[in-house]
Amino acid sequence: MKVLILGKGGREHALAWKFVRSNRITGLYCAPGNPGTAELGTNVEINANDVDAVVETAIRHSIDLVFVGPEEPLAADVVSALADRGIAAIGPPASSARLESSKSFAKAFMERHGVPTAAADVVQTESDLHAFVSGNPGPVVVKMDGLAGGKGVREFNSATDAVPFANSALKSGPVLLEERLHGIEVSAFALIDSNGHRILPPCADYKKSGERGTGSNTGGMGSISPVPWIADETWSSVKRTIIEPSIEGLRNDGLDYTGVLYIGVMLTEHGPYTLEYNVRLGDPETQVILPLLRADILDVCEAMIDGSISRCRIETDDLVSVGVVVASAGYPDSYQKDVPVTIDNVDGAYVTPRSLDRLIFHSGTRSNEHSQIVTAGGRCFTCVCRDTDVFRARTGAYELAESIHFDGAWSRTDIAARVFGS
Ligand code: AMP
Ligand code: GLY
Repeated sequence: MKVLILGKGGREHALAWKFVRSNRITGLYCAPGNPGTAELGTNVEINANDVDAVVETAIRHSIDLVFVGPEEPLAADVVSALADRGIAAIGPPASSARLESSKSFAKAFMERHGVPTAAADVVQTESDLHAFVSGNPGPVVVKMDGLAGGKGVREFNSATDAVPFANSALKSGPVLLEERLHGIEVSAFALIDSNGHRILPPCADYKKSGERGTGSNTGGMGSISPVPWIADETWSSVKRTIIEPSIEGLRNDGLDYTGVLYIGVMLTEHGPYTLEYNVRLGDPETQVILPLLRADILDVCEAMIDGSISRCRIETDDLVSVGVVVASAGYPDSYQKDVPVTIDNVDGAYVTPRSLDRLIFHSGTRSNEHSQIVTAGGRCFTCVCRDTDVFRARTGAYELAESIHFDGAWSRTDIAARVFGS
């Protein structure tokens, strides 16, 4: 089978690695990919958000299956455009991708289907905002309605503090003002098709830039799966109260869905609450989950396309997988690009189809005109190690991170160290 992966991050490098481990793969293309995916398949220099270019690439290379990594091509309805040409894809059509591309749509969906979530008001104008602030002085989370590349959500200790950000967010459309929750975050992933679903093991993402969950929101500075500090009964209640009612809601609303639903959950003292839906795999969660998954990813994708995912064997190795992100100086604010990178020749530095326990996935990097790897984004690598023991997995991931050198490179030092929630 010939597969095309859309995207260029660590998630897509991990997907490429997992696909090339299948002995049924006959061609792997990534659009646009990164230097890591170039080692495993063929990168195609197109913009993954350009639907016509994606369809043309899929036809030109006789692609059997397109795996859509990021949210933007899903919101642009690449899946329907591919379906019109008879090309199978993993990912929902734009009508269902609204669960991620419109936070007000997602909030109304949760409320309609009884999925627990923080109370929220949608405001459209400055005067709505001022009315909200005078009636609700307490802590608040401001969320831009549309896709904002991880920059659309900010937490504030009081509604008054939130006004400048909310005002500037209003310039791009409606804004959600949401009750601020406290607790431990977990990322839940369900593989969904027209007939059923399967749930992957729990995963935690370290969202904040600072140690112990301080600082600003990032795309994710590290990840761990499964999550040692989440009890089985807590996870069962996430499945029962959030994941299953959400999937039931898709069916009841007639929303087509073949792909991954990623639910951001806050475990609070009053039970689990839904923070958000994403209509794709997470980054850096994918980098730790895929190395645990025993199944051939082609079998899993084919099952989703055939509508037989509920009969697919989704077993995972009885290990823990830890991922540490290496980022550019300044990230998540502005950062320099084109900084030369060197990587020591340690085990795992070069990801091959045979690699398994130690993996370095590329994200924001590129190969320059001298074929040298340089930085090209905020999050540059995810270093992953799996082991029977969480401390060894953590040490292994940090050893890999220390083998990567570029000016200003940094990581959070507390990934998988303890429960910091975010
Ligand atoms: P979202 O894109 O909605 O997941 O928000 C990004 C991050 O903001 C989440 O991972 C949380 O860390 C934080 N966040 C979002 N909503 C809330 C909330 N209601 N209360 C507290 N933190 C939140
Ligand atoms: N790790 C957060 C995300 O993928 O949105």
